[in-house]
Amino acid sequence: MECKIAVISGDGIGPEIVREAKKVLDVVAEKYGHTFNYTDVLMGGASIDVHGVPLTDEAIETAKASDAVLMGSIGGDAKTSPWYKLTPDKRPEAGLLKIRKALNLFANLRPAYLYDELRAACPLRDDIIGDGFDMMIMRELTGGLYFGERKTENIDGVMTAVDTLTYNENEIRRIAKRGFDIAMKRRKKVTSVDKANVLDSSRLWRKVVEEVAKDYPEVTLEHMLVDNCAMQLVKDPAQFDVILTENMFGDILSDEASMVTGSIGMLSSASLNDTKFGLYEPSHGSAPDIAGQDKANPIATILSAAMMLRFTFDLDKEADAVEAAVRQVLKDGYRTGDIMSDGCTLVGTVKMGDLIAERIQ
Ligand code: IPM
Ligand code: MG
Repeated sequence: MECKIAVISGDGIGPEIVREAKKVLDVVAEKYGHTFNYTDVLMGGASIDVHGVPLTDEAIETAKASDAVLMGSIGGDAKTSPWYKLTPDKRPEAGLLKIRKALNLFANLRPAYLYDELRAACPLRDDIIGDGFDMMIMRELTGGLYFGERKTENIDGVMTAVDTLTYNENEIRRIAKRGFDIAMKRRKKVTSVDKANVLDSSRLWRKVVEEVAKDYPEVTLEHMLVDNCAMQLVKDPAQFDVILTENMFGDILSDEASMVTGSIGMLSSASLNDTKFGLYEPSHGSAPDIAGQDKANPIATILSAAMMLRFTFDLDKEADAVEAAVRQVLKDGYRTGDIMSDGCTLVGTVKMGDLIAERIQ
């Protein structure tokens, strides 16, 4: 198979972790007889430095002309980086929001899974971990507070800021359908998370999700308020299969879920539209404090590349091979600093990539 992949290395640890994911993909290509053609695309601070904006129209066109986008991370240290002296619409994060919207990537899948080998890195008590947990966070990615109207103004001498949370029923319906479709392939449970005791947008969310649920009689639907969900994630994470939620809640809950799996360095993600196209990136940020030090964990990016093989290219065997190689490396006791525990061997970013690439079968 010949695959056109746009590559956004981005900022901070981005280039290092993407390099390792490509290393693994290249071994997959060789072993399974595929050709992966990469085109580099600038986004975030890397694009600001060259073009003065975090994402150009040409960059969007290049991404659109590809089958998939593999991304590292964007952004810098807000205190010290010159990128944060720019107006908010010119900062690195604006590039990420722009590409999500331009490519209509409304469905963000963030799987949070506890590897048995990482029990020691999980901050939860052993009796709470139990037999482990395996959930899929489905985050709506192109609506809500992130894309509503916002402004800051001086009203009668008082500085006032407004952000708007808008959802229409169509936006809710399409992400809900995705959530139920995925639940059908898993343990057939959807927990829809909202704040329906306060927000109108959440009350509409709940109503539309209930309508969609009628088409999926085999799936158990429950509603949960977001504050309760934040608590349940650390109290009893095994209760969750698919968590279906809006943009902002999904941003927060997915970070929390990743931490209970041991480290945010393990959490992959896929952002999908109506077609096979997808943007694949780790759920974590650019960690400028450890950039360039060979300390970053490349596993979330490598697992994101596996999601790309599975969702965009339908290469399930190849995706399985990557996931198995990650598991084997953990079994063999290799750890980056973020998941290090007693008795394991500490390795850097490059070595972790090598070890995983060697184990592709
Ligand atoms: C994420 C990130 C982004 C988001 C930031 C960088 C804008 O936190 O992908 O979770 O909030 O969506
Ligand atoms: Mg986030």
